[in-house]
This record gives sequence, C-alpha cells and structure tokens, in this order.
Amino acid sequence: MATKNNLRRIITAALPYANGEIHLGHIASTYLPADIFARFSRQRGYFVVFSCGTDDYGVPIQIKAEQEGVHPREYASFWRSRDKEDFEKLGISFDIFLGTDIEENIKLAQEFFITLREKGYIYEKNVLQYYCPKENRFLPDRYVVGTCPYCGAQNQYGDICEVCGHVLNVGDLLNPKCAICGTEAKLKESNHFVFALSKFSDPLKKWLIENERLQQEVKNYVLKWIEEGLRDWDITRDITWGVPVPGREGKQSLYGWFENHLGYISITLKYLKEKLDIEDGVSFWNSSEVIHFIGKDIVYHHYLFLPAERIAEGRFKLPDQIPTRGYLLLQNRRLSKSRGWYISLREFLNNFPPDYLRYYLTTITPYSQADINFDWAQFAEKINNELISIIGNLFVRVTKFLEDRYACEVPEPGVLKQEDFQVAQELQELIKKYSELLEKNEFSEALKVCVSFAHKVNQFFQYNEPWKNKELAGKTLYLSVNYLRSLIILLYPFIPFSSEKMWNLLDLKEDLAFNIFHSVNNFEAIKPGHRIKKSEIIFEKIPKEKIDELTKNLA
Ligand code: 2FM
Ligand code: ZN
Repeated sequence: MATKNNLRRIITAALPYANGEIHLGHIASTYLPADIFARFSRQRGYFVVFSCGTDDYGVPIQIKAEQEGVHPREYASFWRSRDKEDFEKLGISFDIFLGTDIEENIKLAQEFFITLREKGYIYEKNVLQYYCPKENRFLPDRYVVGTCPYCGAQNQYGDICEVCGHVLNVGDLLNPKCAICGTEAKLKESNHFVFALSKFSDPLKKWLIENERLQQEVKNYVLKWIEEGLRDWDITRDITWGVPVPGREGKQSLYGWFENHLGYISITLKYLKEKLDIEDGVSFWNSSEVIHFIGKDIVYHHYLFLPAERIAEGRFKLPDQIPTRGYLLLQNRRLSKSRGWYISLREFLNNFPPDYLRYYLTTITPYSQADINFDWAQFAEKINNELISIIGNLFVRVTKFLEDRYACEVPEPGVLKQEDFQVAQELQELIKKYSELLEKNEFSEALKVCVSFAHKVNQFFQYNEPWKNKELAGKTLYLSVNYLRSLIILLYPFIPFSSEKMWNLLDLKEDLAFNIFHSVNNFEAIKPGHRIKKSEIIFEKIPKEKIDELTKNLA
C-alpha cells in the first residue's frame, strides 16, 4: 500500500445483520459514504484499513436458520458471502469483510465482559424478561411488539422505538405482545448481567463536548439523552446463538449490542495481524483516526454503548467521528420489505452499472439526519442530464478531438495567456473547495464541485473554439486533457469504475487509487507527445421506458 506519510485511518461501516439482502437504504446512509471517504483517504496518502463484516448473532438469525433447517453458523455464513459479493459489485472497497462470529471477536467480547466485571461495571441482577406463556419461552427484544411509552408509536420492538429513537428496556413497552403468536407477553424473572451505563455520563459528556469532529446535530440529542439520565443496561440474554457469557456457557449469550461493535476492533486487528504482519494492533488502533459510519437508527448504540464500553475497558481509543445519515425513502414512502416497497442492491445492479447508483445516491444524500428520497425519474434525470451530458460528454469531446485531429497525441501548448491562467486559477479554487468538503463528509456538495469543474472546462473548450482556431487548438487540447486528468482524480471516490476506465483511456500509468491527490492540481502532468487511446463512450443513457417499467413494477 503506497503511502506518503504515517497517517492512518481505520474506517468501518455498520455491520449488517446476517439475515437478509443489502438494500439501497443501507447503501445510501452507510456503505457508500464510508467507501467514498476510504477511497479519498487512500488517494490522499493515508494508510487506510476499511473493515466490515456481518453481525452474525441473535435470535432473528437463530430462528431463521431453524426455519431453514440449518445451523445458524451456516446460515450466517451464507449471508456473509452474499453481502460480500454484493458490496464488491458496487465497488465498496473493504480491505477486510468478516463477521462477528469469528474466534477473535468471541475472545475480545469475553475479555471485555471479564474486565468490566472485575472493575465493577457489570453486576448481577434478577431482571424481568418478556415471556410468551403460550410458547413457554423467553422473548428477546425483536420478538415482542408494543407501544412506545415515549412517543406513543405502535408496533415497536422491545429494544428501540424506530419512530422517536429512544432505546427501550424490558418492561417499557405498553401492551407488549409476542411477535410470533400475538399472545400477550408476560414479564418473568431471570438472573442476568447489567452494565452500569449510568456511571459513564460524565466521561461520555466530556468526549461529546470536546470532540469537534462529531456531528453537531447528533451530539445535541445525545447530550439531551444524557441529561435525561442514562439507565443501566441488560447485556445478557437467554439464548444460545451468541457469544457465550463466561461461566454461563450454553445457557446465556451476550446481547448483540454488547459485542457487535467490538467486531470493528477484532476484524481490524485480525486483518492487521494476518495480512500486514502487524502484531501490536492495539497501538495501531490508538495511533489511527477511528471513524465509524452508521445510519441514524443506531445512534444510541454508537454514541453511548460503544464509547462507554471502550472507556470502561480502557485499551482502545474512542471514535474520532461517527458520521450519521438519515433513512432512505422510496418515492417519498418509508421502505418496507414486507410490502415489497424496497429495492435490493442486487436487483438494482442487475439493471444499471454500479456508478449510476453511486452517483445518484451521492447527489441526494446530505451529511445530516434528514431523510433521503430515492425517486426513479430523478435518478434518470441526474444520470442523463448531469453525469452523461456534462461529465461524459466532456470526456468524449476532448478525447475524440485529440483522436481525430492529432492522431491521439497530446500537442504542444504554445504560449499561454493571461485568461488561461485565470481559468486554471478558478479550477484550483474548486479543487481546494472539493478537498475541504470531502474532509468534512459533505459528499453531495463535493460532487457538485466536480460538476462545476467539468462545466468550466467545457466552457474553456467552447470559448477557444479549437475546431476553428488552429492557433489556439494546441493549447486548448493540451490544457483540456490535463484538466480531464484532474477531474478523473476528483471523481474517483464517487464513480471508481468509470474513473478507472477514463484514466486507462488517457493511458495514464500512475495508480489512481493511492497517493495521487497531491498531484491533482498539476495541470501539466500530461506532457506534449503523450498518446492517449482511442476515444470511447463512457456512459449509456437511461431510456425513459426503462424507468417507466421499473416505477410500474414497484407499484
Ligand atoms: O442495526 C444493524 O443493522 C446492526 N447489525 C448494526 C451493527 S453495527 C455494529 F456496531 F456492529
Ligand atoms: Zn417512540
């Protein structure tokens, strides 16, 4: 991995449950933003470890496996390889993709449990659990539904209200029912372990207030939760598919949210050790920027449970950033798998190239908690009238001209004029703005800058009329092809497949993916005499009929 300096970034994206297909909602809020940032960081010369994996444990997975007559491990590993494949097709450039059901994670989670217990942050308690009297068994969170006591939303699960975001404890739900058979759920006592989250209010507050890179709007409501008072948290469950609770193996498991985020650490450390021969993963972790990308439904877990556990255990630094984005709506309605109102990643990629999805989702996803709306007509419009008409056409225009008039050879520029420097100056400013925006996670804004950049280059080309004006033609083509080179570098984090293709057509030999960004503002990188390949069309327009058909299918 080529790096310019010792700066390191550990980047993670929320671990998807190993029980279903990745859909566009996950992509928009989490995986695509994480990938854009990882790719940009590598281009900037950071040493990046981008890790992820499936969230393998828990009752929903155990039950689904039972229904299919396979061991939960086998079931989870099916989804693990399937998700991995889907992510690869979209160009999500994980350096490592495993899952929480690896030995290293079991070991780490048990170590955390033991240390926290020794330090007095975990205590025993007889707690009430939901119980289905008809089926005669304990009901974990996702198997009980009822009304949220905070906002009154109906049909919420036992662990979190998806409407107002409050985390719920056992007993909080009003009118709880067994989600499987509908029987009224009872509360029954059982001995469990509890994590003293309430002891961490002060250090959590300090971390939130002092860390300027955490998103302000999220901080505000997390601080409000802390003000309202944090409640201790039951971290064990009466189930077998999970990390065994030390001393209660075979009977109880650690609650998924106690151990799944430890997967960020265990998966990263495993990668460091096995792929890079780095034994001291702890030091590596602590000397890196640590950034976890998530969707807004799991703020509570990432802004409270995760840092509190790390503070309590003491070895691993807290996140520098937890970029959080909103829910995806589809044609202005909440996604619903059961009603078929969603689009799976796989299905989408059967219809369109990955860069179309990446491009469009980036344009509609702000760096905020605001909901994101996927709209088929707008998708076609953005691709046809922006990506293709502005960016694709510029590329073809310049390369075709070079091919037809210069036999693919970049000409001598001749003497540059004041107004050429003026244009170059404006492009430099756009590059500066772009990199500031990317560092700030403002990806939709940064992509707009790329479009402005392309637009400006096109104007430059148009203004100089190289087809009429032989004298200016050399300079125009020389500069334009160099501007294209810069534009491709800028576009790469967003649309890596097409960027690589354009880069190859310009026959550039440097690695577009690593440590290239320092040369993005060099408008003389391609020298006179360099030969490009024959021009090719990069993008195909989306026909209106196809959009009509897909909109109809959805309805
Ligand atoms: O909400 C979810 O989909 C969880 N599987 C996310 C886990 S992220 C983590 F912390 F591991
Ligand atoms: Zn609620």
